[in-house]
Amino acid sequence: MSFLACRVFDQPNVHHRLVQMEASELSDGEVLIKVDYSSINYKDALAASGRGKIMKSFPLNAGIDLAGTIESSGDYTFQVGQKVLVNGCGIGEQHDGGLAQYARVKNEWVIPLPNTYDTKQAMIIGTAGFTAALAIYRMQQNGQTPDKGPIVVTGASGGVGSFAVNLLSKMGYQTIALTSRETMVDYLLDLGASQVTTLDKLELSEKPLAKALYGGAIDNIGGETLSKIIAHTNLWGNIASIGLADSPKLQAMVFPFILRGVSLLGISSTNCPMDLRTKIWHQFGNELPLPDFDKILSKEIPLAEVSPYFDELIDKKHYGRLIVNCQ
Ligand SMILES: NC(=O)c1ccc[n+]([C@@H]2O[C@H](COP(=O)([O-])OP(=O)(O)OC[C@H]3O[C@@H](n4cnc5c(N)ncnc54)[C@H](OP(=O)(O)O)[C@@H]3O)[C@@H](O)[C@H]2O)c1
Repeated sequence: MSFLACRVFDQPNVHHRLVQMEASELSDGEVLIKVDYSSINYKDALAASGRGKIMKSFPLNAGIDLAGTIESSGDYTFQVGQKVLVNGCGIGEQHDGGLAQYARVKNEWVIPLPNTYDTKQAMIIGTAGFTAALAIYRMQQNGQTPDKGPIVVTGASGGVGSFAVNLLSKMGYQTIALTSRETMVDYLLDLGASQVTTLDKLELSEKPLAKALYGGAIDNIGGETLSKIIAHTNLWGNIASIGLADSPKLQAMVFPFILRGVSLLGISSTNCPMDLRTKIWHQFGNELPLPDFDKILSKEIPLAEVSPYFDELIDKKHYGRLIVNCQ
């Protein structure tokens, strides 16, 4: 059986090609999955274009998330024909990933698809939505409640930001969507943002401990903005640090932590423990609301046409979730 895959090679330099390959060439694992959908995340774009050091071995299929159907399973945990999903766990980084018609993975990485959404919706959520949900989970575990004040979401119109705004607002939180693009105001209001603003309009203070304005934050951009938001966070508020779209640097004083009990929570979707990962995926449509799938900016593309999108994503010529139909 040969099938199509978006495979990354390192000779003469790191690049991807769409190739036909055999299942016998796939990374080891007990479970063979026919991939219905995958998605293109920023990390996939860096990996497949060779513009970032993501992959730990070559050649390797790209794709850090997938949803599909069990084709064969080495034990009785999963049934042939069962719908499942996989994200993180090193797929698309050190194990063949989801941007292929088939993927073989370890038994313990596979999550039965919850009955509240289908495989396409699972990949609209993808790593971006999962990460936003993980951040909200950690914040709430640490005492975040709507009455502590509005939650600032930075990089709001990106993948993680869109889900954060949508989920938080459906959970009764006031959200302040911080975007660099005025053109996204209506989109973010439609997702449920209470307020949409740009950095200059927010007028954040330079002081290490500034007026307490926010209940917490979900931060996708890092750098100076994150430092300033920490200084403006209310008593016992939580800030989930997710991304570095602006800068990986963080310069902060300890005052908000030791005088206001503010917490900075690290979010790592790749290394999320499996029991927590499974719990988060099963929360959508249960403890967590389902996202408004029709409102989240997303585009479906066939696997055979993924190539131009890697550079487009990195060069900011494309916005929104890119859902890849692998069949
Ligand atoms: N920790 C984890 O497990 C994890 C998981 C997924 C993603 N991430 C990281 O989280 C970040 C967001 O991921 P994503 O999938 O949402 O990416 P994305 O779809 O590319 O969105 C990033 C957003 O950040 C804003 N942005 C981009 N460049 C910026 C700059 N120079 N200054 C300020 N804002 C900028 C833009 O939002 P506006 O247009 O609204 O300003 C952009 O849409 C990325 O850094 C990604 O690598 C981390």
